[in-house]
Amino acid sequence: MEEPTDLHGTGGVEGVDAAYDRARQPARFIAALGITPGQRIADVGAGQGYFTQRLAEAVGPSGHVVATDINDEAIRRLAARMLGRKNVEVRKVEPDAPGLEPGAYDLILLSEVDHFLADRVDYLTRLRPALTPQGRIAVTHLRAMRPPLVAAAQAAGYTLVSEYNDLPDHYLVFLRPSVSR
Ligand SMILES: C[S@@+](CC[C@H](N)C(=O)[O-])C[C@H]1O[C@@H](n2cnc3c(N)ncnc32)[C@H](O)[C@@H]1O
Repeated sequence: MEEPTDLHGTGGVEGVDAAYDRARQPARFIAALGITPGQRIADVGAGQGYFTQRLAEAVGPSGHVVATDINDEAIRRLAARMLGRKNVEVRKVEPDAPGLEPGAYDLILLSEVDHFLADRVDYLTRLRPALTPQGRIAVTHLRAMRPPLVAAAQAAGYTLVSEYNDLPDHYLVFLRPSVSR
């Protein structure tokens, strides 16, 4: 069946396409995030929620996941999929405003979303207040997309603190605000 056009660019759902799951390696990816139970996570640009359910399982009942998107249909589908999951909130946001509370997030995930941002530096700068003091931003995308993200992160005052290199097609970098700023 053909996908409605308003879902275009909103990613996939785990378990639907085996080749896609092999490429994205969701279990390995989530393990690489180093999540501990009780953490509060933002899944920015969650789309149809490729990682949202696994994030919710990783933080457990004492943790919380806020999954954001700008696309109404993605939000509707994700909300339906997450119905009954007490530790997930699905939140519609505006393209240039993360819509995240200050000082609240141990991890902010941007998975295959930064290429949509009108201004990566501005958006990453706006994300910063939402982090807890030890909070990290994780960014993942196809490897060819790494250079503009790393340049923007440095311009926005972040340090690349670590990187995970064992995904088939994707880079995964972890950012923290640079102490000098
Ligand atoms: C390719 S999908 C990625 C979905 C999922 N994160 C994944 O890794 O499969 C990108 C999503 O980002 C959303 N998006 C684009 N710009 C956004 C913004 N400024 N804030 C939040 N979400 C955004 C799109 O609507 C789309 O659903």
